[in-house]
Amino acid sequence: AAAQRQQRATLTEVLARVAAAYGDELRKSPRAIAYLKKRGVSGVVAKRYGLGYAPEGWHKLAGVFAHYDDPLLEEAGLVIVQPEDHKRYDRFRDRVMFPIRNVKGECIGFGGRVLGDEKPKYLNSPETPVFHKGRELYGLFEARSAIREHGYALVTEGYMDVVALAQLGFPNAVATLGTACTPEHVQKLLRFTDAVVFSFDGDAAGRRAARKALDAALPHAQDTRSFKFLFLPPEHDPDSFIRAWGRDAFARHIGDAVPLSRFLLDAASEGCDLGTPEGRAQMTHHARPLWSALPEGLLKRQLLGEIAGLAQIDTAELSEFWAQAQPPAP
Ligand code: CTP
Ligand code: MN
Ligand code: MN
Ligand code: MN
Ligand code: MN
Repeated sequence: AAAQRQQRATLTEVLARVAAAYGDELRKSPRAIAYLKKRGVSGVVAKRYGLGYAPEGWHKLAGVFAHYDDPLLEEAGLVIVQPEDHKRYDRFRDRVMFPIRNVKGECIGFGGRVLGDEKPKYLNSPETPVFHKGRELYGLFEARSAIREHGYALVTEGYMDVVALAQLGFPNAVATLGTACTPEHVQKLLRFTDAVVFSFDGDAAGRRAARKALDAALPHAQDTRSFKFLFLPPEHDPDSFIRAWGRDAFARHIGDAVPLSRFLLDAASEGCDLGTPEGRAQMTHHARPLWSALPEGLLKRQLLGEIAGLAQIDTAELSEFWAQAQPPAP
């Protein structure tokens, strides 16, 4: 365990050095600066998030570390070793770099964006002993005091969403790292607040992400907590929306965000014609696993009544039916 702690400390030291080096490179790169300017990112916000630039070239990190073949560089996810010939090269090249920090503020990984239209658009650190994608939220370290002050957290999909929202008046935003929102993500946020607003992209992928976030939130939806879902127009994500329409328009969307109860009922009813007994029965079957995932409480009781209402049956009858009938195979 002591050796593991030591290794973690060394990995975060390596990552911190690279984050600092990428920061220096950004200041030296007119191209990268121009890219961030074009996207409206201010110097203050770039500094707050420690944005950087990984320069072009296959072995730039050899200029940062005396021993480019140090296995720590590979373990930190910074250097890739080719399995065939054991040749090494830098993972991140010619990308704007977003350091990912844990809640202690240590750099544990990176996301890197191309400056143009090349693919992949983003490249992220791989899983390492210090970096676990499904647990970390981008921007949480930077946002944590604002989350407490504002009384809620905004959860987005992307790095640029966090940066743009912070710049335009919402420093309480975080992002899942290109993965679905997990119950662990939600758990982590609940250490700082009991109110969460999910704001994913307006496209089909964003809607799927919202559905995953519902699943992640359900087991945490105690009566004293608030989970809401904000749906943007299909062509927008939080970054593009707030830059196009401004702070107040985004605040209005937050005001109109759909509470978890509404989203649950909508999700259960999706594709069901509630005007027919068949559709109402189908909706009831869709609702059951969602409702079952809720913790005991008054919200759960009330939702039973809502589902029964939509199903046009008695609440007690639905309760009894669910107690007797096995859930259908998924
Ligand atoms: N993502 C990723 N790898 C990709 C594409 C996306 O890891 N190839 C992750 C990134 O964290 C990204 C998030 O998913 O920020 C959301 O993806 P998307 O909406 O496509 O990107 P944006 O953040 O909107 O990117 P940008 O505004 O810079 O074009
Ligand atoms: Mn692991
Ligand atoms: Mn998207
Ligand atoms: Mn975007
Ligand atoms: Mn997006």
